[in-house]
Amino acid sequence: MSYLLGIDIGTSGTKTVLFNESGAVIASSLAEYPLYQLNNGWAEQAPEDWWNAAVTTVREVLQKSGVNPCDIKGIGLSGQMHGLVMLDSEGRVIRKSIIWCDQRTVKECDEITARVGKQRLIEITANPALTGFTASKILWVKNNEPQNYAKVKKILLPKDYIRYMLTGEFATEVSDASGMQLLDVPNRCWSNEVLSKLGIDKALLAEVYESYEISGRISKTAAELTGLMAETPVAGGAGDQAAGAVGNGIVKSGIVSSTIGTSGVVFAFTDSVTIDPMGRVHTFCHAVPNAWHIMGVTQSAGLSLRWFRDNFCISEIDAAKCMMIDAYDLMTKEAEHIETGCQGLIYLPYLMGERTPHLDPYAKGVFFGVSARHTKPHMLRAVMEGVSYSLKDCMEIILSMGIPVTEVRASGGGGKSSFWRQMQASMFNKEVTTINSSEGPAFGAALLAGVGAGIYNSVSEACEATIKTISAQSPESTEVLIYEKYYPVYKKLYTSLKGSFKEISI
Ligand code: XUL
Repeated sequence: MSYLLGIDIGTSGTKTVLFNESGAVIASSLAEYPLYQLNNGWAEQAPEDWWNAAVTTVREVLQKSGVNPCDIKGIGLSGQMHGLVMLDSEGRVIRKSIIWCDQRTVKECDEITARVGKQRLIEITANPALTGFTASKILWVKNNEPQNYAKVKKILLPKDYIRYMLTGEFATEVSDASGMQLLDVPNRCWSNEVLSKLGIDKALLAEVYESYEISGRISKTAAELTGLMAETPVAGGAGDQAAGAVGNGIVKSGIVSSTIGTSGVVFAFTDSVTIDPMGRVHTFCHAVPNAWHIMGVTQSAGLSLRWFRDNFCISEIDAAKCMMIDAYDLMTKEAEHIETGCQGLIYLPYLMGERTPHLDPYAKGVFFGVSARHTKPHMLRAVMEGVSYSLKDCMEIILSMGIPVTEVRASGGGGKSSFWRQMQASMFNKEVTTINSSEGPAFGAALLAGVGAGIYNSVSEACEATIKTISAQSPESTEVLIYEKYYPVYKKLYTSLKGSFKEISI
């Protein structure tokens, strides 16, 4: 029997999963690490933490599964996108990684737009300058930490740092590289024009592969540390959203995914480069050759619920511990008893600014419409509804671009909740389904490795061989009407508050 390994470098932790060729999970392991927030709107992580977590989880998966490492035919990497990892000439990490949700680079985004030109930037990178993307993070280090920038010899993305540690290769692949804002997205290669206008030396960047291609092999040192076989092939893999999409079968038109992880993403496949001229959704290369994808991103989806849990649900956390269940299950039970629409209580999930549709690093979270009759469970449900409204914002833009949506596949931690899925079905007024695998990015990365290793002939063949839908929830007509009433209010709130968000940020 052949096996495939997927390693996903997430924001809350690294998850490593071993699959067989039919896509069944053989063993999995998760190791968490901290997020450092030194200033308001800043977010950093230590690449060394990712590496330690990768080593620990690979070792644990091998131990738990008892699989002979020579039967692992390929390894796929996936990870949080956009994070800036800078290495010196010895391959050492120079400073902590400034990660995707960090919002410090407003000035650098203006600098990028001025240097490249707004229209030209969109033509080449398919997106306007965004604080989340890597290019502005590179310029921030150049502008604010010249002593660090002087030491840089290589710039990598989070999962590509793990690839370097596993194989010694400096490599990336088209889907994650798209999120650096240095890639010519239509042509799937680094843009000499953007690099020269931003003064970034191409030699600092990694070699770009297609996601299924083999980019390196496990080194002797990594084999000793992890227990993997030296020379096992490592495929390009993909950024967590594209890898998750492969793991959900979003490899053809019509099926769209809605993922609630730390961030929330609505993801659609396209076979040509389709760009929102207002830049409200991202257009990136897909992990499928000759295909692209569009995604709307809400910064604080699962993060909103985690924030609410950690700050206001201490009793639920304690009770869940005693009952040996997840605190989220108790929280969901409380929310279920509240009527749809929360009697006018509306939450804006902008805890870390917002991308789709506002592209506003200054946006803040809001509870609006609080009255004396509202209770904590109302607030809980309002958080879940607010996140769903923000996903609806993404869906609406995708629909307005003429992308067909026949089915929405729910995934991520939030997609496991049938309550939250039903909310989304009524909010989107579309059928929401789930599939037989809940391993999203790790699964997608493993499938890509399977293509690279020759187990499957193509990414879509890999998905067909392993993925089927197992549940479907339809919109409920009374809920649809209630959400139709409140959604315009939700939308108006941002417009009304935009100026005030900026006032309290400066
Ligand atoms: C996508 C994005 C996030 C991160 C973390 O553009 O920033 O989804 O990849 O999950």
